[in-house]
Amino acid sequence: MNKIVLFCTLIILCSIESFSQQNIPELLMAKNGNTIASSKQWEKLRRPEILAMVESEMYGIVPGELKISEINILDQDVQALQGKAIRKQVKLTFRGNQKELSVELLMYLPKGKKSYPTFLGYNFSGNHTIYGDTAIHIAKEWNGAAKPRGVETSNWEVERLINAGCGVATMYYWDIAPDREDFSIGIYPLLYKAGQTKPANNEWGSLAAWAWGLSRALDYMKTDKQVDGSKVIVIGHSRLGKAALWAGARDKRFAAVISNNSGCGGASIYREKAGETLLKMNNRFPRWTAVNFKKYTENESLLPFDQHMVLAMVAPRPLYVASASEDAWADPKNEFKSALLATEVYKLYGLKGINSPNFPELNMHVGATVSYHIRNGKHNILAYDWDQYISFAKKFVQ
Ligand code: GCU
Repeated sequence: MNKIVLFCTLIILCSIESFSQQNIPELLMAKNGNTIASSKQWEKLRRPEILAMVESEMYGIVPGELKISEINILDQDVQALQGKAIRKQVKLTFRGNQKELSVELLMYLPKGKKSYPTFLGYNFSGNHTIYGDTAIHIAKEWNGAAKPRGVETSNWEVERLINAGCGVATMYYWDIAPDREDFSIGIYPLLYKAGQTKPANNEWGSLAAWAWGLSRALDYMKTDKQVDGSKVIVIGHSRLGKAALWAGARDKRFAAVISNNSGCGGASIYREKAGETLLKMNNRFPRWTAVNFKKYTENESLLPFDQHMVLAMVAPRPLYVASASEDAWADPKNEFKSALLATEVYKLYGLKGINSPNFPELNMHVGATVSYHIRNGKHNILAYDWDQYISFAKKFVQ
């Protein structure tokens, strides 16, 4: 038995050693050179210093406080989904600098349950696209012609979630900050100082703005007695997975975090990256991150952190990272590595994560409080993924 344990430890050490050949900064070594050996030291010293680095150097700080100014329950149907669910559409309004911004939160909540997980995440094309329910308000159109109702049904699986006793809550991400190089619209101007027209070098890019919006949705959900606010899981796919990850890393009130195919700027380690590199992301989407981050373009080795540290900030809360086999752009192997390395922090809490450095087979869930799978197929979030997330929520979100 002891020999087996020794053998496994050696394999893990060798694999961590091969990652450190990528010069990935040490997760468990503080800036002052001290090794972090307990969850207490992690929480007191290392987590705050990682948060400060990642915030000012990559995603950007939120430049002030802005609370919800007004809440309007626009719609409530207690007989949705053939009587199985409550549907709610809630308008959240923010005010600042004599400007106003509103976003609609759509929720389907399972009926007759007090304690249940709710998945909160942004949708890509408007709330009306997540399900064919004709009562869902058609989203304001920012980006060309409005998408038809229900076109993202297979990405949201509302019925599957309600049948499994889970809630789902979503907003259209453009309503918080339009996904274009224009900082005169969206949430940014509400927090500008006099004369400011774009975020300062260390201030938020769109990923941080979207993450901020998820936390504001949670503010509301915690006040709604029909929601179990202690079990809100933040989730997102692709660029919205990057935003969900950052929201969950910063805001400890999220009960768990799920990053689906989030890739570069999400779960994936930047160093020696395949698929989308920092150069490719920063060139195409400069708005996503703070100006400060641009100095690392083609200079990844200078980064004082890497994405496994963002994942580790979620500890000890449950974390799920998922990839897809035909999604080389998101770099599944580096997404997996990140989850494996982040597991070191979970161990400080006596929790289990990814315990083998071997890249898993397709369609096989691995891990525990930190979980991972690589689904067969393309860049997407599909029924297979949701089935894993539902089981994960039931097992780990207490
Ligand atoms: C592009 C981008 C990715 C992003 C993806 C998406 O492919 O390069 O970083 O994750 O869009 O959001 O769908």
